[in-house]
This record gives sequence, C-alpha cells and structure tokens, in this order.
Amino acid sequence: MKKQLRISPSILTSDFTRLGETIDMLNSSQCDYIHLDVMDGVFVPNISFGFPVIRNIAKRAAKPLDIHLMIVDPDRYIPTLRDSSPEYVTVHYEACTHLHRSLQNIRANGMKAGVVLNPHTPVSSLEYIAEYCDMIVLMSVNPGFGGQSFIESTYRKVAETRELLLRTGSKALIEIDGGVNLTNAGALRDAGADVIVTGNALFASDDPKGTVELFKSL
Ligand code: DX5
Ligand code: ZN
Repeated sequence: MKKQLRISPSILTSDFTRLGETIDMLNSSQCDYIHLDVMDGVFVPNISFGFPVIRNIAKRAAKPLDIHLMIVDPDRYIPTLRDSSPEYVTVHYEACTHLHRSLQNIRANGMKAGVVLNPHTPVSSLEYIAEYCDMIVLMSVNPGFGGQSFIESTYRKVAETRELLLRTGSKALIEIDGGVNLTNAGALRDAGADVIVTGNALFASDDPKGTVELFKSL
C-alpha cells in the first residue's frame, strides 16, 4: 500500500487579487494544509506578504496553515503568529543563531515547529535538532520565488533525512518545497517524503482543485 502524500499548496503564485476565492477553492479541495510563504526581502531577494494578509487568510481558511518564514530573526514574530493559529511554523536553519531556542519558542506558543534547509545545507546539520522538530522542510529550489525548476539532488537528500530521523528517533514529517509537480512527486514520496508543497504546478493548471486530487492519487 503506497503512502499517500500530504499536499500543501503554496499561494505565492496564485492571483493575489482573488485570494479569497483561492482560499475557498483550497478549503473545498483535498489539500492537507495551506502553505504561506512569508518573505522579508532580506533573507530572500523578494517580499511577499505580512500579518494583515496572514490574519485574513487565517480567518477564511478551513485547512491547517503551514507557514514558511523566509525572514531573518524569525523569533521576533512567533508570538504575533500565534494569533493566526497556524499548525506549523517553519524557520530556516540559515536564519537562526539559536535554532533550538527558536523551535522551543514556536512550540511554547502552541504551534508545531519545523526547520527548513536551503539546497546547499547538509542534512547532517539536523543531527542535534531533529528530535525537537515536528517538520523538516527540504528546499528543492533556491528560496524566494515560485515557478522555479526542481533541484534533482533533493531525492538523495530526502533519503538521507529519512535515515537521520530513524536514527535520532525524530517523529518529524519530511516536506519538500519548490518545483514539485506531478512527475516528481511520486518519486519524492518513494524516497521518504511525507508532504509536498506545490505552487506553480497547481496555479498554472486549468483546474487547481483537480490537480490536488491528481497529487493525492499518485
Ligand atoms: C519558494 C517557496 C515555495 C514556492 C513553491 O521560496 O518557499 O513554497 O512558493 O512554489 P513552486 O511549487 O511554484 O516552486
Ligand atoms: Zn515555501
């Protein structure tokens, strides 16, 4: 029996003038989470959206929120994020001087905590933090933009992460973020991924809701 992937659509490449309709569509779809890419223009060379948008989405969303913080010093905003009751808040390994404390901070605010690795950051970085994580996110593109091409070395990285979680006893989910589509998602699941983020593959299609179902049927 093949493990069914959990799907976390990223709204970054959706039409922001129709965000309410997009959230309604995702609410009625088979997706498992809604992925919000928060970018500060410093950690990544792009700026996406902030709390006014997050709060409005949180009010309308009927799916758990999976908030990906691509910002420097994310600890500043953990208490504020709590108001939007996200299920997951993930922070970049590369952006946190005291990552263990950041994860404790997220959990202490009642949210599940995750670490995100950029494509160049080795899985071994997780050795002493994996057991404190509820999610590990592997970036399969360089963060900052939707619609980029998938980095092929991610398959190997997924398998390595799965091994590390088994060895450390971590119960974290493995999420893959960036350039995921219907042709690579199955192999990512088989390599050990639990959750895939998908933006462009969904919102560039004629039927985003139907595309979620195709991902779930892989
Ligand atoms: C990139 C973001 C991703 C991206 C995924 O920095 O973290 O979540 O929006 O979108 P696609 O699937 O279009 O690569
Ligand atoms: Zn993301």
